[in-house]
Parts: sequence; C-alpha cells; structure tokens
Amino acid sequence: MLRSFLIYLSKAAWAQNLVTGWSFAWRTASRFVAGTKLEDAMRVVHELNAKGINVTLDHLGEHTNTPEEAQQATDDIFATLDALGADANARGNVSIKLTQIGLGLDENLCAQNLERILARAKQNKTFVRVDIEDTPYTDKTINLYYKMREKGHTNVGMAVQAYLYRAEADTRRMVEDKTTIRLVKGAYQEPADKAFPKKADVDANYDLLTKILIDGSLANHTRLSRDGRVPAIPAIASHDEKRIAFAKQYADKAGLPKDGLEFQMLYGIRRDLQELLVQEGYPVRVYVPFGTHWYPYFMRRLAERPANIWFFITNFFKG
Ligand code: FDA
Repeated sequence: MLRSFLIYLSKAAWAQNLVTGWSFAWRTASRFVAGTKLEDAMRVVHELNAKGINVTLDHLGEHTNTPEEAQQATDDIFATLDALGADANARGNVSIKLTQIGLGLDENLCAQNLERILARAKQNKTFVRVDIEDTPYTDKTINLYYKMREKGHTNVGMAVQAYLYRAEADTRRMVEDKTTIRLVKGAYQEPADKAFPKKADVDANYDLLTKILIDGSLANHTRLSRDGRVPAIPAIASHDEKRIAFAKQYADKAGLPKDGLEFQMLYGIRRDLQELLVQEGYPVRVYVPFGTHWYPYFMRRLAERPANIWFFITNFFKG
C-alpha cells in the first residue's frame, strides 16, 4: 500500500515540485545520489575504485518531454562517457534509461540517440547498460537492444526484472545471444497479470534466473574485463543477502570463477556488504546516480524500504 503510494508520488509532477523545493529532501536524497555534477560523480568513482569497487554511472533522467530534452540528456551521457574515456584508470561504465533519450516520444529518435551513445562509448573504451523501466517500455527496450546488436554494437547490456512473469523467457533468449544481464527484482508498480504480487515468488524467480545466468556465463566463458568496464554475463544486482548467498553457492558448485559474474548494489545502500564481497574476491559494481533529476530515483528508494521515510523525517526536524 505504502509502496504503491510512493511509486505513484514518484511520477506525480505536483509532488515533485513540492518535494524538490524542500532543502531537507535533498539532504535525505544525497544519501543515495552522489551529487548534482559530473565532478561529484567522478570523485565517487575514484573513492570506490580505491576500495576495489567498480562503478556504473547514471546521469539521472527519465521521461523527457521534448526532442530537445532527449538531445540534452544524450549530450549529458556523452559528457559522462568522455570523462571515463579521459581517465583510463577509472573502472567504470555507464547506465542509461531509454525514456531519458526519447523512448516515450519517438522510437526512431531514441534509436538514433542510443546508437550515438554506443559509438561514443566505444571511442571511450567503455560499456553501456540499459536500465529496465516499467512494462509499457519492456518490449520497446528489448527491440531497440536487438536493433543495436544487428548494427554490430556489442558494448551494450540489458537488465531483467525478476518480478515479471516474462523474465524467464526474456533471460533465456538473451543469454542464448550472449547478452550481459543485470538481474534486479524490479522497482515499479506492475499489475498482477504482469508481475508476481508476492515477494516470495519474486525471490524464487530471482534464484531461478540467477541459475540461468550463471549457466550462461559458464557455457560462454565470460569474464569481467581487466579494466573493470565490461562485465561478464551475470550481474546479480540485489542487497538481499539470501539472493547473494544463493548466487555464490550456485556459482561455486558449478565451478564458475569469481570473475565470471559480478554483484551490483546501489550507492549508499549496504556499503558493509559491498566491502565484504570485495574482501571475498568477487567483482562488485556500485550504481552511482548523479544530477539534478533525482526526484523519481529517490522516491523509488523510499518505496523499496519504507523505513527510509524515518530518515527523511529526521532530516526535516534537523531543519
Ligand atoms: P529487497 O527489496 O528484498 O531488499 C533486501 C534488503 O536490502 C532490505 O531488507 C534492505 O536491507 C536492503 N535495501 C533494499 N532496498 C533498500 C533501500 N532503498 N534503502 C535501504 N536499504 C535497502 N530496478 C528496475 O526496475 N530497473 C533497473 O534497471 C534497476 N537497476 C538496478 C541496478 C542496481 C545495481 C540495483 C542494486 C538495483 C536496481 N534496481 C532496478 C532496483 C531493484 O529492482 C530493487 O528495487 C532494489 O534493488 C531493491 O531490491 P533488493 O534486491 O535489494 O531486495
């Protein structure tokens, strides 16, 4: 109930105008967001890299309303790619959302922007992960991914949401095509005919998909690249200790070397677990969002863990 309400608020323009006007809201959000500028994000890249953690950078933005906004978002992504290109030691790649670069406006425009982003990523010797959004965009996102593959782009990966009934079929198809996949539970509000309503079913599906990804990594001998930029097939993106333990156990039993997968977590969440996995010798990548469009991202983080609302309220009383 509270989760649904917070996800509704994440999309409501009136709530965005209200909340982003409160200074204590940014104070709370900045636990999850590296800062508003690219320099802030690059500083965090260096801090995390120094701890043995790789990074994926997200210049925040989604649902742009005009072709000009989609162009601006594409230019912002170019700047992030160029910053990584200028710093060969930075162990990082980039994550993007297709509605950020025009998917909700015009699929052709989005395809053009995506293709330019992949070309720019190649020049900068890095990789682009396409985030997965809510179900009105799932088919379009997968179609555009395949369109890019047909055009010869290989420096691009996808994400799959374990809460969707279709996730198993999508994962099997994409692993067959050697797609690197970030496996997440899913952060949006979906109807019961599209997504498992019960958390236990989502968790069980997550473990099943983990097996498929690990088997795919074994069959295709995929490994994290030495520069930390291009991941192997499975990216287990969760803070759920049971899901992580399952992945470790299954990979170990199957004989997958540690760099045949990676664990991913969000900036500001379970830093202890991130560091523990690094100590155990696993590749870890932290998703680092930055920029001024932090509101929907932040609201989804509140929805995932309503206890975060207390943190929000505490900041209000701090004045
Ligand atoms: P779960 O929600 O069961 O949480 C397990 C534990 O993790 C909690 O008990 C708590 O300790 C901690 N935790 C989880 N969320 C927290 C929060 N917000 N604040 C504090 N603690 C928290 N989704 C999507 O739909 N499309 C996408 O492209 C992505 N991309 C993505 C990248 C990466 C690197 C990650 C880690 C996650 C995503 N997600 C996503 C979000 C994902 O779908 C999911 O909503 C969150 O990861 C929370 O689910 P968990 O797997 O962590 O489990």
